[in-house]
Amino acid sequence: MSDDIISYSSEQQGILASSTLPIDQEPEIISLRPERLHEYIGQSEVLETLEIAIEATKQRGEALEHVLFHGPPGLGKTTLAHIIANEMNTKLVVTSGPVLEKGGDLIGMLTHLETGDVLFIDEIHRTPKAVEELLYPAMEDFSIDFIFDKGIHARSHRLQLKQFTLVGATTRVGLLSSPLRDRFGLFRSLDFYNTDDLEKIVRRSAALLNLHIDSGGSVSLARRSRGTPRIINRLLKRARDYSQVRADGRISKKTVEEALDLEGVDEVGLTPLDRRYLLTVINYYNGGPVGIEAVAATLQEETDTLVDVVEPFLLKIGFIMRTAAGRRASDMAYKHLGLEKTSA
Ligand code: ADE
Repeated sequence: MSDDIISYSSEQQGILASSTLPIDQEPEIISLRPERLHEYIGQSEVLETLEIAIEATKQRGEALEHVLFHGPPGLGKTTLAHIIANEMNTKLVVTSGPVLEKGGDLIGMLTHLETGDVLFIDEIHRTPKAVEELLYPAMEDFSIDFIFDKGIHARSHRLQLKQFTLVGATTRVGLLSSPLRDRFGLFRSLDFYNTDDLEKIVRRSAALLNLHIDSGGSVSLARRSRGTPRIINRLLKRARDYSQVRADGRISKKTVEEALDLEGVDEVGLTPLDRRYLLTVINYYNGGPVGIEAVAATLQEETDTLVDVVEPFLLKIGFIMRTAAGRRASDMAYKHLGLEKTSA
């Protein structure tokens, strides 16, 4: 299957480039990924939408309509793009918005796609405007218009493409222009996973890695993984190392808790960065409201990291609120951190 995955790095993206690379550099991550719809745990409504669309499209012998996935990192957007290509029995080409610097980068990829192939553009909201404009006719009419020369000598040439499927992924659907958003036939948001699904995911991953984990261990990992499969799989490996070196190799509630305490991951899954964020809002800005730029400056972190990675989970569990005036820490956040609320 990996023969069917082509991933382009920025250097390789010239039109002539054709090297094949595994899409993820960490081999175990790839093998923990479900490859088919029936292996996928959670996001049942998204799966049902895809199952129906794929089945109907295959019956008609067509290419699947373009699909846009929206949601925080680590929830399965890339995995679903792989699954779509696998279920359609077609090739997957992987790239990302910021890597598509020039129109030629995109044209090179589009012209190599066969009918039904999947082009996956991660972080599609970061695609440069000039490249995004090439996508409109490519998505709608499967064609690209080249303009030669300027002024009265200008001539255009239309290149016909095969009917491909664009799968876009974004953490910020609000940053997508409406002409781009409107060209996707299927649009689904991925939400954080519940602890039942995370437990199933971690038991599946443990089985694939040949690990022994008891139910106390899987429950603790599920509670501490911020609703995110990518995180639970990473924390499973930390628990594996810890259990191997400090215990008999079996992963239990005790070894998970000790391993994750060492990682700075607390009982609800907050990381050191989550706590620094909350403490900044509470201690520096008296609990808010405070603008995200001010929080980012105080923490010396990128605003995008806070907005894409830190805030979605804190909002989900009700530790922060986003108001017109800025971010506020909730009473629950104070309580979790063992802090008293002081009046301004
Ligand atoms: N591994 C990572 N995400 C998964 C999911 N949603 N289902 C099964 N295994 C996974």
